[in-house]
Amino acid sequence: MEQYIQQAIQERRSIREFTEEPVEPELLHKIVTAGIWAPSGLNNQPWRFVIIQDHEITPRLASLTHYSHIIEAAPALIAVYLDQEKMYDSVKDYQAAGACIQNMLLAAHELGLGAVWLGQILKNKQQVNDVLQLSEQYDLMAVVALGYPLHRNQQSQRLPLADFILHEFGGTAP
Ligand SMILES: Cc1cc2nc3c(=O)[nH]c(=O)nc-3n(C[C@H](O)[C@H](O)[C@H](O)COP(=O)(O)O)c2cc1C
Repeated sequence: MEQYIQQAIQERRSIREFTEEPVEPELLHKIVTAGIWAPSGLNNQPWRFVIIQDHEITPRLASLTHYSHIIEAAPALIAVYLDQEKMYDSVKDYQAAGACIQNMLLAAHELGLGAVWLGQILKNKQQVNDVLQLSEQYDLMAVVALGYPLHRNQQSQRLPLADFILHEFGGTAP
C-alpha cells in the first residue's frame, strides 16, 4: 500500500488536455470524498465544493481566467471553497484546503482521470462566486479541472532532495 501511494504521488501530473468523454457523477463524488478525508485542524472540515458539468456555467468561469482553454476543454470542474463560518485559524484552514485538493488530485489519478489545480482564477474569486451563486461566506481556494486525459506525455521536474533539506540532525544526509 505504501509503495502504491508513493507511486501515485510521483506519477500524478497536472493534466490540461482532455477527451470529450463526460465524467460519471459517481467518480466526481469519489473525488470529493477523497477531499473530505483530508486532515483538518480540530477536524473542522471547513471545505465545501461546487461540481460543475454545465454548458452555460463553464464558459462563464472560463472567461474569468487566463487558463480559459483548460476550463473550456474540461468535461468537469470542481470549485473548492472554505466556508468562512467554519474556519478557526486561517493558516491552518488554508493548509487543510491544500491537503483536500491534493487528495482530490490523487484520487482522480487513481480513477484514471486527469486533473489540474487552477489557482490563477482566484484573482477573480468574487466573480466566480457570482457565477456560482455563492455569498462571500465562501472563499474560493481553487478550481480543479477534470476529465479523461487526451494523452499522458506530461513531464514535470523536481529539484534534488538535498536542495530542500536545510538541516538533518542525526541520521545520514541523502
Ligand atoms: C496553488 C496552485 C495553483 C496552480 N494554478 C495553476 C493554474 O492556474 N493554471 C495551471 O495550468 N496550473 C496551475 N497549477 C499547477 C502547477 O502548474 C503544477 O502543479 C506544477 O507545474 C507542477 O506540475 P505537476 O502538477 O505536473 O507535477 C497550480 C498548482 C498549485 C499548487
